[in-house]
Amino acid sequence: MTDGPPQPRAFTDYDASLRVAWEEEIEGEAYFLRLAEAHDGRAAEALTLLAEIEAVTARALAPALRRRCVPMADLDALRARGRAAAEPLAGMAWPDLAAWMAENFAPFIAEFEALEALGPPEDAEALRVATDHERAAVAFAAAEAAGDPDSFRPLRDFLAQTAAP
Ligand SMILES: [Fe+2]
Repeated sequence: MTDGPPQPRAFTDYDASLRVAWEEEIEGEAYFLRLAEAHDGRAAEALTLLAEIEAVTARALAPALRRRCVPMADLDALRARGRAAAEPLAGMAWPDLAAWMAENFAPFIAEFEALEALGPPEDAEALRVATDHERAAVAFAAAEAAGDPDSFRPLRDFLAQTAAP
């Protein structure tokens, strides 16, 4: 076992990376919904917002996968994987979970930036949404862990900016 947050993975194949990114958003929605079930009040509200930003991001990425004929994995299987991944965290107290998320989600920002750098111009907008959603999640978690009463703002701003017209 090593201490500290995971390191960003190195992605070199754009189509494969795009597929992983989309799959992890589908899994992420189920993951946060499972955690929301384990909490109430402010924590449940935050976790539901996190599930929503995952769903919005998956929807933003889906047209890029279709354009490139990247096969999409089975949604039910991905959701089951997301729920299972949340299970070990479901008993964690909310302040600890927020601090854990701030540390462990941070490397994903660099991964999404790398994906943006690999992507073609027609996917730029979707990839920007993906990077922005991770920045919002990390900014939220760090602010929440620090006790900031306005910590939801990055999540709400992201959702307002990416809302369907
Ligand atoms: Fe995500």
